[in-house]
Order: sequence, then C-alpha cells, then structure tokens
Amino acid sequence: MSDIIKRILALKDTERKILVGDLLESEKGLKETFCGRIKNADQPLAEEFYKSLPPGWDGYIKDEVSKADTLPPEKKQKALQEISRQIEGIGARVEKLEQSTLKAKKQTLKFRETMKAGFVKLEKVISDQTRGIERGPLQKEYPKDAEIIELPKPDRSVLKKSDIFDCIADRVSRRKFADDALTMGELSYLLWATQGIKSMRGKLVAFRTVPSGGCMHPFETYLAVNNVAGLKKGLYRYQPVDHKLVKLFTIGSMSKKLTKAAMGQDFVGNSAITFIWSVVPYKTEWRYTLEAKKIILQDSGHLCQNLYLACESIGCGTCAIGAYNQKLFDKLCQLDGRDEFVVYVAPVGKIVNSE
Ligand SMILES: Cc1cc2nc3c(=O)[nH]c(=O)nc-3n(C[C@H](O)[C@H](O)[C@H](O)COP(=O)(O)O)c2cc1C
Repeated sequence: MSDIIKRILALKDTERKILVGDLLESEKGLKETFCGRIKNADQPLAEEFYKSLPPGWDGYIKDEVSKADTLPPEKKQKALQEISRQIEGIGARVEKLEQSTLKAKKQTLKFRETMKAGFVKLEKVISDQTRGIERGPLQKEYPKDAEIIELPKPDRSVLKKSDIFDCIADRVSRRKFADDALTMGELSYLLWATQGIKSMRGKLVAFRTVPSGGCMHPFETYLAVNNVAGLKKGLYRYQPVDHKLVKLFTIGSMSKKLTKAAMGQDFVGNSAITFIWSVVPYKTEWRYTLEAKKIILQDSGHLCQNLYLACESIGCGTCAIGAYNQKLFDKLCQLDGRDEFVVYVAPVGKIVNSE
C-alpha cells in the first residue's frame, strides 16, 4: 500500500490526471489519505509527482497536503484500500470516458448551430404573438398574506465610485467577501441596476435598466439573503413593477445548500446575498419561438454585467457563476424546471479591504 504515489506516477498521463482529480474531490477520507501519502513521501518523489500534473494544480494540492493526515488508522486503512481499487479501475474508467467524449464532440458541433442567428427560419413559423394570444403579466402574483418588503427608492447616495470609467476599469470577479452586511439602500440599487423598471408602455411592456431582445424581459430575480441589515435570512423574489421584495420562505442550512448547488464553490454560500436569476422561457418564445434560446442567453449576460458594474460602484463584489447544479438550484427556489428554471447565479458581498 506504501507504493500508492509510485503507482499513480506509473499511470498514463490522462489516467493520472483523472484519478487525481477524482481523489481531490472525493469524500469519506479519500482526499485526506491521498494527501497524507504525498506528505509522507520522500521529497524527490513528491516533487516528481507534482511535476506530473497539469500546471497550476500543485498550488492547490500543496495546500491540501499541508492540512492532511488527521484520520484514525482504521479509517485510513479503508481509504487506502479504496484508493488502490480506484487505481486498478482507472484504465477502464478512462476507456469509458473516451467513448462518451467522442459522442460529446459530435454534440458540441451540433450545438454550434444553436449559437447562430435563425431569424430566417422564423418566417416559416406562426408565433403566439401573431395569433393574438395574451402574453403573461410583468410580475408574478403572490399570496395575500405574503410578507412584502418595501425597498428604499434607488438613488446615488450609496455610490462610492461614480466614474463609469473607473467602474469598468476596476471590475473583476471577486470571490472573497467581508463579513459586513449590505444595507437595504445598496440592495435596492443592485436590484434596480439589474432588473429595475424605468418606464412602462401600457401594462405589459416595461423598459428596464438592461436591454432585452424584443423587450421580452423573461427573467425573475430570486435572492438568497444571508447578510442584509434589516432583512431576515431566506429566499426572496424581486417584484420589479412595485420595486418590492416578497419573502418566499426560509431555507434550513442555506449556506451549505448554496455551496453544494454551486458545485462546492463556497464563496457562494458565504456571500451576503446570492442573486439567482431564473428564466420563464415562454415570455421570449411568445414572439421568437425557435430563436428564443439564443436571445434569452444573450439577455442574461446583461443582467450580470450590470450587477458587476453596480457592485463595483458601491464597494461590493460579485462573480458570475455558470458552474452550478441545475436540479439543486431549481429545487432551492422551488421552480418546476420546465416552465421556469435557473439560468445564472451571482453571489454578492462587500469587498475585502486587502483585495
Ligand atoms: C458565463 C460565466 C460563467 C462563469 N462561471 C464561473 C464559475 O462558476 N465560478 C467562478 O469562479 N467564476 C466564474 N466565472 C468568472 C470567470 O472565471 C471570470 O470572469 C474570468 O476568469 C475573468 O476574470 P474577471 O471577471 O476577473 O475579468 C464565470 C464568468 C462567466 C462570464
């Protein structure tokens, strides 16, 4: 069992990378035991091992190695047996992965087509708009007894940096947040910047702070609130017409669930607020039928970019999250996953001074 690092080094390149990736993400003591073996290996062997991995991995692994080897002996023994089993099985696992990768490559080429403009095809389709079918309301109903939270009118008093040049130049993805709470004024400003309504045409068309193909605005904003002064923790939805929040429900172990749903990215769970944008696809399909998919995804980028810039202007930070678990985020917001589902996530918090 002591030759585990040597056995991993003897694997083919791809096999080694996949196995090490698996071990670093594994639970039940496998990661700790594996890192413990590296810690106890001879220095030249450990160095050879680090060198055999893709660039940039060694920093993360060295960090894990420095924390490793705290398991009781019987647990460690079991973990070692499991690692050994995984080394034996890695050839077959990579073989299987190679097959599904071939299939995925063909699919990837097919998906390229969905990125292209398909407006010509729309000439052959009758949209629900053309049929005169009513589009849905601008904002969702809520139960009469729901808790409604008034938001202060968005204004410039929250700004720390009002030069647009600076905001654009300084914008970065931030993954470390201070423990400080956001104020209601700051939250109101961020909601306005991302989905706020500036003017209406009739009751069904709203012009907002972000553009949207055909002014369809197919998104809902959910907020997982963790640290906003004057707001209880829980899940809220933004009501853009009223510029208010409706409290939907509380979530037990919210931080943990957010981190898990964000594929282990713990800065999501540790943020003050997580913006969770869902789409109601029909809102765009109503006019654009086959073309809706592309327009919706183009639209979603505008929300997040405005959030980045608005955060920058008030001493907050955010990071776009595309790597998330669809089912877990839909479940967290109690969405059906068909007529409404999550498309983008962005945690927000105050900037840490050292950043
Ligand atoms: C669509 C999209 C998805 C992203 N998903 C993630 C993510 O899941 N996790 C993460 O840490 N960063 C994510 N990012 C942030 C990028 O890593 C980041 O924008 C990039 O590294 C450039 O850095 P900058 O934003 O600081 O300029 C995402 C960005 C975009 C635009």
